[in-house]
Amino acid sequence: MAKPKFYLTTPIYYVNARPHLGHTYTSVVADTIARYKRMCGYDVVCLTGTDEHGQKVERAAKEAGVTPQEFADRISAEYRALWRELDLPFDRFVRTTEPRHERAVQMLFRKAQDQGYVYKGGYEGQYCVFDEMYVDEPLPGNLCPECKRPTERVREENYFFKLSAFQERLLELYEKQPDFVQPESRRNEVLAFVRGGLRDLSISRTSFKWGIPFAADEKHIFYVWYDALTSYMTGVGYADDEVEFEKYWPADVHLVGKEILRFHAVYWPAFLMAAGETLPKKIFAHGWWLFAEEKMSKSRGNMQYPQPIARVLGVDALRYFLLREMVFGQDGNFSRESLLTRYNSDLANGLGNLASRTLTMIEQYFGGRVPARPAREENGRDAEVEKLKHEVCEEALRYYETYDFSRALEAIWRLIGEIDKYLVEFQPWVLVKEKAKWGRLEMVLYQAYDALRIVSVLAHPVLPHATQKIWEQLGNSTPISEQSMKALVEQKANGAGERQAFQIGKAEAVFPRVDKKEAFERIEAMEEEIRNPAAASAAAGATAGAAAPSGAVAGAAKIGIEDFAKVEMRVGVVKSAERVPGADKLLKLLVDIGEEVRQVVAGIAVAYTPESLIGKKVVVVANLAPRKLRGVESNGMIVAASTGPDGKPVLCTFTEDVPAGARLK
Ligand code: ME8
Ligand code: MG
Repeated sequence: MAKPKFYLTTPIYYVNARPHLGHTYTSVVADTIARYKRMCGYDVVCLTGTDEHGQKVERAAKEAGVTPQEFADRISAEYRALWRELDLPFDRFVRTTEPRHERAVQMLFRKAQDQGYVYKGGYEGQYCVFDEMYVDEPLPGNLCPECKRPTERVREENYFFKLSAFQERLLELYEKQPDFVQPESRRNEVLAFVRGGLRDLSISRTSFKWGIPFAADEKHIFYVWYDALTSYMTGVGYADDEVEFEKYWPADVHLVGKEILRFHAVYWPAFLMAAGETLPKKIFAHGWWLFAEEKMSKSRGNMQYPQPIARVLGVDALRYFLLREMVFGQDGNFSRESLLTRYNSDLANGLGNLASRTLTMIEQYFGGRVPARPAREENGRDAEVEKLKHEVCEEALRYYETYDFSRALEAIWRLIGEIDKYLVEFQPWVLVKEKAKWGRLEMVLYQAYDALRIVSVLAHPVLPHATQKIWEQLGNSTPISEQSMKALVEQKANGAGERQAFQIGKAEAVFPRVDKKEAFERIEAMEEEIRNPAAASAAAGATAGAAAPSGAVAGAAKIGIEDFAKVEMRVGVVKSAERVPGADKLLKLLVDIGEEVRQVVAGIAVAYTPESLIGKKVVVVANLAPRKLRGVESNGMIVAASTGPDGKPVLCTFTEDVPAGARLK
């Protein structure tokens, strides 16, 4: 029998700025659901992509001094590279600048137009470029009610979509399919909005160029949201591959952040109804990650990136934290402090420790052969533990089904906690000392082994790499992803377990404990490097010339002499130098720059010993904003060539005598 299909999507992300932790969150959620559904026997397709048209992207490209296409190419590639680094293997990636996508948009539009839902008119009103949204009722001062940024006046000839014709049908949809919009609180917002009346919607723009042109009227380009939403169909073959489209459409769930719910729960179903296409089954709007109680944004400078966490703690730790800490649907507060606390308590001491102590005891007491479950040794506690295993299996699956990840993980970790207690209670390390108790010892270690097996399978969608490692250490040779969630629950319902004797693999720590302070600083330093690559790499020993504009994505636009004049470079004489503890590359220098002695941290320790630098004349960028590297304050930057003969940085210095403090021009 063919597997049932499951098709889910993330939003396709704008390419106006680089991917950050918020985008990563939705992508991690989607990947977790995809992995879970596969373990439930579904043929899963998981889509993401990049939203490349519109005014916002056009402006960002202009600012960077490149064409919109070049800009989109670059950021779209960054998204794909990030998903690769984080091992989020999406099945489909749609770019809205692809020809197949243009065909899909034209087709959807033509169908709606044939049904008489499109007319030409004029639009005059406010528009928010940040949200790419027409704003009917701006806040005082013409601010956008969504993002509070100033809106702009737009007066254009446009094509309109007869949204007003769909009010009743939409209300009927929410009525008949109460779970069309989830969670419930969000559904109420949508209901209120639609009940308040719907105005027709402009779906074309004429005052700029970066979009898909209308086939019959090239002066118009599609409104970016009409274009973007259609990508969900493009990804499964709309206007391209009928068999594929028939198979996967409609989407089973569109995952979105709450700020774009209206587009998905109101406009999108109306666009589809107008064209006579099937509606998606569900829109799930999750909350926001806040940082220090505020929404992350570039302008607030509190943007968080996923790479440092993944590189310091591992991809699974990042996933675990995002899914455990945020109650799906609500807002969550991101803090590195709670990230590191959870890492040590839940992963290192929790799952990691249970795995290593259980496997180590099996290795030491039974030569690595997993004991079978000796029925005659069972006592009341074992029956309790067995019951809990069954309950946890059922509960975890029930919560996965409603995307309630934090509760699913809580349930799984309850079993981990219980087995920890059980081991302390029965003390296998004492039982082993008396031969008469070896039967009981077998029972106790069997219980722990069996629990570990269950936990690994249940937690696999969230912790794909760590659970695979534990799975191998448990002695399994087939991939854990091939395990069936349903079979596990059924087995535990029958009180059955693994009875076969197994030879376990080598026990290795999956989540080594971290020193919180040290991990904190490493994450912070990497974060700084991503946020401000020019400053950070220069301070870490790379060249200070041609400093790239911040954001890493801006183009290599030429700068004028007045820009160069902003950089204050002075001759400095190194007075003292020492290593920064715990950092292989960093040296802390005191440098005399004429009027003062500065502390500067430089990433040149691989090339220079501290002693060799004393008295050396170097070039210091003196007016760089102070920053911390590994917790050490750096007031300025030492200029160096990024790679010398053996790949090490080489300091810029002088062949003739110059006084400290002389300015470079
Ligand atoms: O809106 N917390 O793209 P976008 C949680 N192109 N999730 C967050 C977040 C945060 N702080 N910040 C971003 C667009 N997200 C359109 C979508 S779909 C047809 C077109 C996630 O780049 C969340 O999923 O602004 C949010 O909806 C999405 O990124 C917005 O990404
Ligand atoms: Mg946005």
